[in-house]
Amino acid sequence: MENTTMARAQAGLCAEGNLHSVYLMFNAFEGVESRLRPCLASVARFIEELSDQYCEPAFNGFVAIGANYWDSLYSGARPLGLKSFPNMKAEGREAPAYEYDVFVHIRSDRYDINHLVANQIVTMMDGLMELVDEERGFRFLENRDLTGFVDGTENPQGSNRAKVAIVGSEDRQFQGGSYIHTQKFIHNLSSWNQLPVKQQEDIIGRTKQDNVEYASADKPLTSHIKRVNLKDEDGQSMEILRQSMPFGGVKSQGLFFISLCANSRNFEAMLESMMKGDGHGHYDHLMNFTQAVTGSSFFAPSMEFLEEFAD
Ligand code: HEM
Repeated sequence: MENTTMARAQAGLCAEGNLHSVYLMFNAFEGVESRLRPCLASVARFIEELSDQYCEPAFNGFVAIGANYWDSLYSGARPLGLKSFPNMKAEGREAPAYEYDVFVHIRSDRYDINHLVANQIVTMMDGLMELVDEERGFRFLENRDLTGFVDGTENPQGSNRAKVAIVGSEDRQFQGGSYIHTQKFIHNLSSWNQLPVKQQEDIIGRTKQDNVEYASADKPLTSHIKRVNLKDEDGQSMEILRQSMPFGGVKSQGLFFISLCANSRNFEAMLESMMKGDGHGHYDHLMNFTQAVTGSSFFAPSMEFLEEFAD
């Protein structure tokens, strides 16, 4: 299939933040691909229709297909940069890979609507896929991570969101799609909360209460901001769009991290810089207080791509 018209990205990809989210991870039963393709197109269409119906609570969402499952579902047509999650280990720090076949992301400002829609989507998948993991995200205070720091400040804004997150003409067949990486991070909050605020700020690279970025010369090489602020070989900033939200309960809680990008390279380079560091022992010290327990790689195709393969 050669996509000659402008492909329409799934609406939830570049949406602004919401109050509540549901993350549904599915694995497919064997031999269901011909029935699953139309089902996924219907789910994406359903989400799009609901975003009109529930525009007041800003309902949105998207459907993404796992890197390791892609070829079973759409053999012969693979996004150029689609790779398994980059499993990383360095000196006791680990970002493990944990792949799923399909990810459905649902968000709105109403917990009840998300719950209703999540149930409807799971019913649509009946007999085709098993729901193997589910989490609920929530907005914490003023868009803060559970560490107490505002998260998302330096995300691309306005039309720049799509520029960063959505594949363009460089991969025509997959134009309108997005490379998605997710990680569940579980925080060690009892240990984090014992740190003096100044030490926490040095680890993030911003002030806590007022969310002011450190001056460049003051950012420790081990701060999160320093480790993820990368340039490519042409000196251009490597960017991602983060759609992360806090999740969990009192017993176990952290950040459901989600990266969207027009390529898979930027996320991988950032994660490597955080986990492995700069080659001189400077890794991201935030990793001393949180542990990634999953790591999954997906591609969210355009609406046209999903429809094209639905028959
Ligand atoms: C920035 C928290 C994981 C990439 C930030 C900021 C916070 C934060 C508080 C500063 C405010 C902002 O600009 O959003 C966290 C936490 C994480 C986590 C709590 C997990 C426990 C990651 C991962 C990546 C990443 C895994 C990418 C692989 C970024 C980027 C920025 C950022 C690109 C913006 C940097 C800038 O331009 O200043 N993060 N983050 N983060 N984070 Fe993370």
